[in-house]
Amino acid sequence: MTRPEPLIVVSNRGPLGFRRDADGELEAARGAGGLVTALRPLVDRHDVTWVASAMGDVDREVAAAGRRTERSRSGSPFTLRLVAHDPDVYRLFYSVVANPVLWFVQHGLWDLMREPGADFEQPWHGGYVEANRALAAAAIEELDRVPDAAVFVHDYHLYLVPAFVRAERPEARIAHFTHIPWVGPEAWSVLPPTVARGVHEGLLACDSVGFHTERWRAAFVESSEALLGRGEEATLISHANPIAVDVAEFDALASTDGVRSRRAELAIERPEILVLRVDRVDPSKNAVRGFEAFGLLLERSPALRGRIGLLALLDPSREEIPEYVDYRLAVERAAAAVNERFGRPGWEPVSLVVRDDFLSSIAAYVDYDVLLVNPVKDGLNLVAKEAPLVNARGGVLVLSREAGAFEELAPWVVPVDPLDVDGQAAALERAVALQPEERRAWLDGIRRHVRTHDLDAWATGELLELDRRSPRPAGATMRP
Ligand code: F6P
Repeated sequence: MTRPEPLIVVSNRGPLGFRRDADGELEAARGAGGLVTALRPLVDRHDVTWVASAMGDVDREVAAAGRRTERSRSGSPFTLRLVAHDPDVYRLFYSVVANPVLWFVQHGLWDLMREPGADFEQPWHGGYVEANRALAAAAIEELDRVPDAAVFVHDYHLYLVPAFVRAERPEARIAHFTHIPWVGPEAWSVLPPTVARGVHEGLLACDSVGFHTERWRAAFVESSEALLGRGEEATLISHANPIAVDVAEFDALASTDGVRSRRAELAIERPEILVLRVDRVDPSKNAVRGFEAFGLLLERSPALRGRIGLLALLDPSREEIPEYVDYRLAVERAAAAVNERFGRPGWEPVSLVVRDDFLSSIAAYVDYDVLLVNPVKDGLNLVAKEAPLVNARGGVLVLSREAGAFEELAPWVVPVDPLDVDGQAAALERAVALQPEERRAWLDGIRRHVRTHDLDAWATGELLELDRRSPRPAGATMRP
């Protein structure tokens, strides 16, 4: 058990979003996304003040009213401080820089025909820098209220927050965790040097910097050396600590009535062999090549036609960004192409459902035979851990070598190279043909690993890494 510690968590999307119900009353809804779920143990075990961006109009009202006390799903109190950005600043920050640029660069999706051109400095300074500055200012105010708190910053939206905080409060204890891949100097070189260097300087202002894998950590050391000559510092402050699943939460969810009723619905429609994918609609997730590979499997294995089906449960994501809108259309076209070619009355090879329905995803986790996780690149990929944890059919995981989770789960998966459609078709064929003993042994291997490396261990590990590099001051406040 860790000592409870005062913490200021800073992330772009917060743990709660606000709206008004039919009577105009304020209503809080859980913020979407894996990051927020992953940070819950921190809220339950520590004195957390959470600083995040206001997303909609009601969030902005909440931001204007100042900090407020909220409760986590397990009932733990925490302080929430929302920051309202100027809408133009936020658009440049989120929809021009953080997602279509940083996310794309760090997932190997960059296309040299694209921007950034000469005008990239404007969204960088007017959007990304400003939004980071505003969140850092709020974190500093909270730090003045709780001076012995550690500041724990998250993800690619907020690379500059640590440097802003450090400049104002040199003694602060600051950690950052990057939830997406890190890439080497060549990949960063597509950005203007001020931007690439700014990103690295931001992280090097931390006491501790975490990544999901050793591979991403090593890339950070390499790019810090190439861009700033600070590889040694990067080595000293960085570590790898793959994020994990809240095992108790998943066990409980899998046996709820909501999941049971969705399993019953799925049972009526399911093919004999169910291949599943669960993702956000995101170019990095590689759904289009997954559908093409499934089509190739049907072409090569006529005996599977009519017996096998691919269920794709995709959450809509970042729909204000044109690249995401285009990718969703490409996903829909690719699914339709397989159905047009191979479908017949009574059998639709690909079922594509684009909807945010977490309980249906868990129902499908329980009942898949093959799980396809083929991202072009992925910081970790939590689906690869969550789904095997609750699967009841000896399901086989087909996993991209480019997902961070591959480093941990490789002994128990059918590996795939995400750009190799032919190889993915062969991998699906192999997964379908795997013998029951082997299926069971592999699933058990993943399950054992996920159960013993759980989310509490991840959160504790992050704070220990910070303590190791920047010990807590003697006499720091502690809850009993
Ligand atoms: O959970 C996956 C993830 O991509 C995180 O890396 C990121 O912080 C979060 O989603 C942000 O998602 P959104 O764009 O929906 O705020």
